[in-house]
Amino acid sequence: MTPQDLMKQEVGKAAAARVQSNSIVGLGTGSTTAFAIEFIGKRLAAGEITNVKGIPTSFQARVLAKQHGIPLTTLDEVDRIDIAIDGADEVDPHKNLIKGGGAAHTQEKVVDALAEQFIVVVDNTKLVDKLGSTFLVPVEVIPMAVTPVMRAIEKLGGKPQLRMGVKKAGPVVTDQGNLVVDVKFDSIDNPAELEKTLNNIPGVLENGLFVGVTDLVLVGEVQGDKVIIKEM
Ligand code: A5P
Repeated sequence: MTPQDLMKQEVGKAAAARVQSNSIVGLGTGSTTAFAIEFIGKRLAAGEITNVKGIPTSFQARVLAKQHGIPLTTLDEVDRIDIAIDGADEVDPHKNLIKGGGAAHTQEKVVDALAEQFIVVVDNTKLVDKLGSTFLVPVEVIPMAVTPVMRAIEKLGGKPQLRMGVKKAGPVVTDQGNLVVDVKFDSIDNPAELEKTLNNIPGVLENGLFVGVTDLVLVGEVQGDKVIIKEM
């Protein structure tokens, strides 16, 4: 395992340890959350916690939850989400995020924003002083609107690029059947305003700026030959 994978594993484990019996858990997407899902499954199998139901944020999360024996439910069947655990691509000092590296940010935002407690799990390479420093802002767009949406984004000063598939000819298609435009902004001075402005473009479903939704960030950091977990 690489040091980064080790950080992801330990931070995922630390988040899974916070899940309590009789709770509804939002299950995020990505390689860090995958470890959290695995450890929630292990705790259930060991009888350490009981009566936990998951709400997946993607096809990937649904498959992993089934694989690790976590019963699933839907937003139609519950009136609350107690805790959501999810990864991020960037985290700023105000706990605002860029998400959507896995094109799952639309369902993630629905679930994470509904949770009583939203815990973000990252390794320390994801911490930035300012959002947009290392990562582009993913924007999910309905297919027929992709050209006008890209033009509108350019007018806002962004540089949009359509996300292309890997081992698949053509663009990435989201779990909702839409496309993803990744946008480079020179400087994101007001993430809250940009989040709203992007979502206001006709044809945009959701963007990957998550502002004011995070309750706690667990950060994995390698120190010597150990991984320590810091809280933010
Ligand atoms: C999925 O669309 C994303 O929001 C992920 O949660 C994010 O990309 C973090 O993924 P990793 O944990 O794989 O870095």
